[in-house]
Amino acid sequence: MTTSDAHVRPPIPAGAEPGAPQPLAGRVAVVTGSGRGIGRAEALRLAAHGAAVVVNDLGVASDGGTTGETPAEETVREIVAAGGRAVVDTADISTTEGGEAVVQRALDEWGRLDVVVNNAGIGRPHMVFNLTPDEWDDVIRVHLRGTFCVTAPAARWWRSEAKAGRGGYGRVVNTSTGLLPLGGAGQSNYVAAKAGILAFSEAIATELAPYGVTVNSILPGALTRLAAIGWRTARNAEARADAFDATSPVHVAELVCYLASPEAGWCSGQAFQVSGGRINHLQTFVPAETIERTDRGFTVADLQAELPRMFGAGPRRSDPPPKEWSDRYHEGA
Ligand SMILES: NC(=O)c1ccc[n+]([C@@H]2O[C@H](COP(=O)([O-])OP(=O)(O)OC[C@H]3O[C@@H](n4cnc5c(N)ncnc54)[C@H](O)[C@@H]3O)[C@@H](O)[C@H]2O)c1
Repeated sequence: MTTSDAHVRPPIPAGAEPGAPQPLAGRVAVVTGSGRGIGRAEALRLAAHGAAVVVNDLGVASDGGTTGETPAEETVREIVAAGGRAVVDTADISTTEGGEAVVQRALDEWGRLDVVVNNAGIGRPHMVFNLTPDEWDDVIRVHLRGTFCVTAPAARWWRSEAKAGRGGYGRVVNTSTGLLPLGGAGQSNYVAAKAGILAFSEAIATELAPYGVTVNSILPGALTRLAAIGWRTARNAEARADAFDATSPVHVAELVCYLASPEAGWCSGQAFQVSGGRINHLQTFVPAETIERTDRGFTVADLQAELPRMFGAGPRRSDPPPKEWSDRYHEGA
């Protein structure tokens, strides 16, 4: 194991806790990119909570380049050794065929599909003035297109099951990024894909609600391979002396297991930022401040004063009384 492998395969409890209930018993899950990092933790914990898991991973480098690695096999070995059920899948989820294949793998193996966790990802960070069209396309393709390519065939299966009277259960958990609230400088391709994933998730949460399918997003934080591209997670890890390892992906995985469970059927179209022992519920696409006038639209001259006021700058808007009222008041005085 190399030094960087410590980020890739940290110890994650893989087996069922003795005597603990198994909320995902009998369920079947697909987790993309689950050979390493957060996806591996999600696969191990879904299996520990009772699910049979299709462990999908193409085994690419963090920039998407090919390697000879087969990380999905290692995750499956860990699950099976702990008494769980899992199979390897090496489809490229950024393709139509790959997305269909990974869904079909679950159906062929176990005859059903309950949970899709779209997690696979790559990073090709550059400032926009150095970003090539290929770096843009590759990141959008793996994250945004990949999320669509797996979710669409799963949604078709859930819909056909519902129409046949057998449906009523589906869970999608999509992976966005905590870089979004930070602005994402240096990773414009990545945050563009991840913002797209939030919007996609909210749209299909509405579309799939009639079929008993929930769709939520997570913005995870954990010290894994893609986090190591940046510097914030490592710095935060050094700065903390917590009793538990807040940088472990296991904390992300536990939230995903809850969202995948029957108990979370009430929750759809939501986004959660999760890292260590902290979970934030994000209000996406909600207006923060409003200015409004009902008599006419704003002119450029109005906006010179109104927009800074919207941000708390400048004097308060004066609200002078009508001239007749003012005249009456002064006549009487
Ligand atoms: N680690 C963090 O703190 C963090 C923060 C925000 C978002 N995320 C997101 O979480 C997810 C996992 O991140 P990670 O740090 O665990 O990454 P990772 O690099 O450790 O693992 C990602 C896995 O996805 C696989 N993969 C890549 N492209 C694929 C494809 N086309 N088909 C199938 N598999 C493919 C890779 O082989 C790899 O094993 C990513 O979507 C990432 O953007 C991570």
